Order: sequence, then structure tokens, then C-alpha cells
Amino acid sequence: MLVSAKEMLNKARDGKYAVGQFNINNLEWTKAILLTAQENNSPVILGVSEGAGKYMCGYRTVVGMVNGMLEELKITVPVALHLDHGTYEGALKAIEAGFSSVMFDGSHYPIDENIEKTKEIIRIAGEKGVSVEAEVGSIGGEEDGVMGAGEIADPNECKLIADLGVTMLAAGIGNIHGKYPANWKGLDFDALAKIKAATGNVPLVLHGGTGIPADMIQKAISLGVAKINVNTECQLAFAEATRKYIEAGKDLQGKGFDPRKLLAPGFEAIKAVVKEKMELFGSINKA
Ligand code: G3H
Ligand code: ZN
Repeated sequence: MLVSAKEMLNKARDGKYAVGQFNINNLEWTKAILLTAQENNSPVILGVSEGAGKYMCGYRTVVGMVNGMLEELKITVPVALHLDHGTYEGALKAIEAGFSSVMFDGSHYPIDENIEKTKEIIRIAGEKGVSVEAEVGSIGGEEDGVMGAGEIADPNECKLIADLGVTMLAAGIGNIHGKYPANWKGLDFDALAKIKAATGNVPLVLHGGTGIPADMIQKAISLGVAKINVNTECQLAFAEATRKYIEAGKDLQGKGFDPRKLLAPGFEAIKAVVKEKMELFGSINKA
């Protein structure tokens, strides 16, 4: 059964580790992430961007697929199905469809409007026990059509949003979606420490988890980050493994063109990335 992200993130915050959010795109992605979580006894969050939700034929299809897999694969670790960077309307639709967690990304609105809309989503989500992530400041780069300026979050604004009762808070601290450029300055830990001091107990979320060095991940966790989002790294690993399979001509040998064979190396590559991140985040055996 899907669960809200609240309990797993509060436990992670208290235990000084982080739960990974891994974005899904299709059946292979979902199965790879769920099996890896189960094999490693780790809680996990399945992230769905609005674009990926449309690609998978709508939120109801996603909920049906994930619930079916939880049952058929006998997944017993805590799993949250979370809308990633949702609009106001998207968050309402995801809640209605049966998601157990939503992000309302109001970071591009003036703070008063972000507060008003976040408050309303918390009210509606609360009626169904659905957890809510909000965002202050912005994540640099682009993810699935969502652009961000990479603005460092203002701790006072973070406090205003945290005090609304959000389950978790994403704050811009120099993190970027996609690959980090060679001249990236790194995470702004001073800003993170101030945000933590201003927001108290609310678990913090680190977006743009692809390619952040291990020491920065560990420092971020020590400063209150309890959820880390990873998307691009799984995509890169899947693409590379699939390319190698095709370039080696394996799709032309025997029944190598069978999609169940063709997609297998990418599936294993996603599993390897997810396991590596779970080890780094410290969530193994924390289910
Ligand atoms: O919301 C999802 C992410 O923040 C993932 O970022 O693609 O850089 O790993 P990433
Ligand atoms: Zn993100």
C-alpha cells in the first residue's frame, strides 16, 4: 500500500539519513526502483513529473501501475508516490487520482501567492492524508520543461512556508537540475544552515541529486536534508546501457530485439544507480 512521505522523512531526519526520490517514466523504471528498494530494505519515493505523468497516460494509470506492482512484486518497504514539481492544478489532480504525496512548486510566484496556494494544497491534501512538499527559492536548470533561475532561498520566506505545516521543504541552495557544469560553485551550506535554523523540524529536500559529490551529500544530510531527488542519473545510465547493447549488435543476435531483452541492460543500470544512491544516502535497512 502506498504511504504518505511524512513518517519516512521524519524518521530520516531524526536518524540523519535521507530517502531517495527517483523519478519514473514507465514500467521498467518503476519495477527497477521498487525491486531495489525491497532488496535493500529501504524506504523509497517514486517521483512523477507532470510531463512523465502525461507520458504514462495520466495519473490514474500511474497509480494503477504502481499499486499493481506493490502487490504483485510483494513490496513491503514504505513507498510514496509523489508528484514532482507540480502546478496547483496538477497537484489537485494527482491527489484526486490517488497519489500519496505531492509537490506544489509555487517557487515562481511572489511569496504571498506561493503561501496562499501552498496553504490550500495542504488543506486539501490533509483531508486524504497526502504529504505535501513546497519550494522556496529555485533550483537552477531545467527539468521536464520546468525552468528555474537557481535563486538561493530566503530563510525568512522558508519559515513562512514551513509554518504552514508542509511535510517537507525544497529550498534553492545552489543546486541545479541535470548535469552540473564544470564551473559549478557547489552547494551553499551557509544558506542551508540558516534555512534549517529558520524552519525547525521540517525535513528539507535536495533537488538536482545527479552528480552531487558524496561529501556534499553527507554534509547536506547533517544539516537537515532528509529527501534527495535523483532523475537525470538514472536516465543517463539507462541510455548508456541500451546504447552499448545496440552498438554491440546484441539486438540482432537470436531474439535480442525482443523488448524484454533490449530493455534489460537499462533496467539493470537503473537498479545499480538506485542502490548506489541508497548506500550514499544511508537509507539501506531503514524500512
Ligand atoms: O525533481 C527532481 C530532481 O530534482 C532531479 O534532479 O535530474 O538533476 O537528478 P536531477
Ligand atoms: Zn527537482
